[in-house]
Amino acid sequence: MDEIYLNGQYTSKSSAQISVMDRGFLFGDGVYELIPVFNKKVFLLHKHLNRLRNSLDLIGMKPIDDLEKVIDNLISNNTKKNFFIYLHITRGEQAHRNHVYPKSIEPTVLIMCEEYPSYNQDQIKIGFSACIQEDFRWLKSNIKSISLLGNVLLKNLASSNNFYETLLIRDNKLTEGSASNVFIVKDKVVYTPKLSNELLPGVTRDLLIDLLNNNGMKVIESDITQDELLLSDEIWCSSSTNAVVPIVKVNDSIIGSGSTGEISMLAHRITKEFIDKY
Ligand code: PDD
Repeated sequence: MDEIYLNGQYTSKSSAQISVMDRGFLFGDGVYELIPVFNKKVFLLHKHLNRLRNSLDLIGMKPIDDLEKVIDNLISNNTKKNFFIYLHITRGEQAHRNHVYPKSIEPTVLIMCEEYPSYNQDQIKIGFSACIQEDFRWLKSNIKSISLLGNVLLKNLASSNNFYETLLIRDNKLTEGSASNVFIVKDKVVYTPKLSNELLPGVTRDLLIDLLNNNGMKVIESDITQDELLLSDEIWCSSSTNAVVPIVKVNDSIIGSGSTGEISMLAHRITKEFIDKY
């Protein structure tokens, strides 16, 4: 797990070094991806690499070559079967701290393996709780930026109050979670906020829409108000680390029956089956 790739070299987490003048360190100037590896197979790689290319483009950076080869090497050299590939690309290092970046600057490319806990079937059946907060982040949340201070504060607000996630509301509309996309169910129809600059186009979100459609469920991408969220029958959060995390309580409001609903369980099951067959 300790082997990492940094700027053309394979090294270890403990011996890798980054300049203090790196714009990622000084300005949070860069983008990232987190890609699951299940049973040694990298999951939906091209979707993640496409989103990375798009994030780079949106911050005026060029695509990075040869990422697939490095990812393959890190996976082959890893003794574990299930983990995540973390890609972190900053605009690079410059001699003096300056908001303005030079025209020619070499990006810093870090790729490493990380582990995150995944929830078991019992935890999924019981469900999780969440809180609600105003979405005070910037208006380019569609970029998978390494500047995650807003998300970090919002996620820690949840965890320090024993919630799994903070659900974010902007202009009375649900955007996403601090580290996940959000789905709700009302009268057997699934809704999720439509894509915009206010939320990340989640790879898992996309997959879930396809899988649910293929299983005969209607999924509508639309605005969801705070009342609609609180009065929904089911809620779940989706992300690459845990595809479907059912939310059965939001602040003091019980959602549906107060335990994981049948469509959340369906979403969980069909994603698990898809991953197992991948
Ligand atoms: N984050 N929205 C936000 C703000 C996220 O941070 C994430 C995932 C998602 C879900 O995206 P995807 O399904 O492509 O993982 C939505 C990752 C897991 C992270 O930052 O660790």
